[in-house]
Amino acid sequence: MCANDYVLGTHEEEIERLGLQHRIWRPLMLNAWMKAGLTVGSRVVDFGAGPGYAALDAAEIVGVRGEVTAIERSPDFLDFARRQFERRQIPWGRFVQADLDTQTDADELQSEFRSLEKDTDAIMVTPLVVEIIAEKI
Ligand SMILES: C[S@@+](CC[C@H](N)C(=O)[O-])C[C@H]1O[C@@H](n2cnc3c(N)ncnc32)[C@H](O)[C@@H]1O
Repeated sequence: MCANDYVLGTHEEEIERLGLQHRIWRPLMLNAWMKAGLTVGSRVVDFGAGPGYAALDAAEIVGVRGEVTAIERSPDFLDFARRQFERRQIPWGRFVQADLDTQTDADELQSEFRSLEKDTDAIMVTPLVVEIIAEKI
């Protein structure tokens, strides 16, 4: 496991496990998004996007006029996410490889934080990174 890996690993079995977990809580997630007003054209930033299951669902909702930015520290997860977007022919996904714990000076990450101030309609945060983000913004 490299320094950028998820604590449970980023191997195929873990990607499958996260997919199963995603399918279990997906109805609750979609309901919460609907209540929050996530819709066509929304701009979403997903911090700790993992293999991108939630990001992909969000991208299908926001459509071509919206945008989903997936921020994730594991290159393996981010590659998997990127491939899923390509497979579904969704070019309105953006992928930023960054460790929110350490890479606060990365230009791309700085610009994500700046865009949060004005352009973002929804922020999805994995529980593990909530604390880190709270310190940064
Ligand atoms: C439970 S997974 C997220 C699953 C994802 N929401 C999905 O739909 O598949 C948690 C993710 O947070 C990422 N993460 C944890 N701490 C992070 C940090 N400091 N910076 C960036 N990503 C982080 C992990 O690498 C992992 O991929």
